[in-house]
Amino acid sequence: MLVSAKDMLNKAKAGHYAVGQFNINNLEWTKAVLLTAQELNSPVILGVSEGAGKYMCGYKTVASMVTAMIDELKITVPVALHLDHGSYEGSFKCIEAGFSSIMFDGSHYPIEENIEKTRELVKICGEKGLSLEAEVGSIGGEEDGVVGAGEVADPNECKSIADLGVTMLAAGIGNIHGKYPANWPGLRFDALDSIQALTGDMPLVLHGGTGIPEDMIKKAISLGVAKINVNTECQLSFAAATRKYIEEGKDLSGKGFDPRKLLAPGFEAIKATVKEKMELFGSVGKA
Ligand code: 13P
Repeated sequence: MLVSAKDMLNKAKAGHYAVGQFNINNLEWTKAVLLTAQELNSPVILGVSEGAGKYMCGYKTVASMVTAMIDELKITVPVALHLDHGSYEGSFKCIEAGFSSIMFDGSHYPIEENIEKTRELVKICGEKGLSLEAEVGSIGGEEDGVVGAGEVADPNECKSIADLGVTMLAAGIGNIHGKYPANWPGLRFDALDSIQALTGDMPLVLHGGTGIPEDMIKKAISLGVAKINVNTECQLSFAAATRKYIEEGKDLSGKGFDPRKLLAPGFEAIKATVKEKMELFGSVGKA
């Protein structure tokens, strides 16, 4: 059964660890993340971008696949199915489709409009028992067509959004989706500190989890980050494992590649990446 991310994140914030959000793109990806969470007895959040939702034939297909997989694989750890960087319209579609958690990314709107739209979704998600993530200060880089300039969030604006009653808050603190450039100055811990001072117990979300040095991840968790999103690193490990398999020509049987064998190394690579992140974030054994 899918659950809201509220309990797992409140526990993580209180226990000084973070729950990983791993973005999914297909059946193998989903199965790899779910099985790893179960093996490590860790709560987990499956992130679905609007692009990935479209690729997987729509949100209803995704919700049905994930729900059925939880059942068939006998997954008992808490799993939230979360819309990642949702538009206002996309948020409603996912609520309708049976997602258990929504991110409404209103960071590109003027703050007043972000507040109004977030307020509306707080009400609806509250009525339906879903968790809601809001964003202030756009995350840098490009995530599935959503481009952010990487601004640092204003702590007072964060407080205004947190006070609406959202479950968790993504605040830009110099983090970037995708690979970090060599001259990246690092996370803005001064901003994170001020945001946590004004938002109290609110679990904070760190996007762009790929490529942030381990010491910065640990410091961010100590300053109130309770959810960390990882996408690119799974894509890179999946691609590298698949490329290696093809280059080694292991399955050239004259009939072409067996799709199940072709995807198996990538599946194992994602499992390894997810395990490494869950260990780093401290969520192992916290289900
Ligand atoms: P990365 O692709 O940098 O891991 O970021 C993922 C993310 O923040 C999804 O919202």
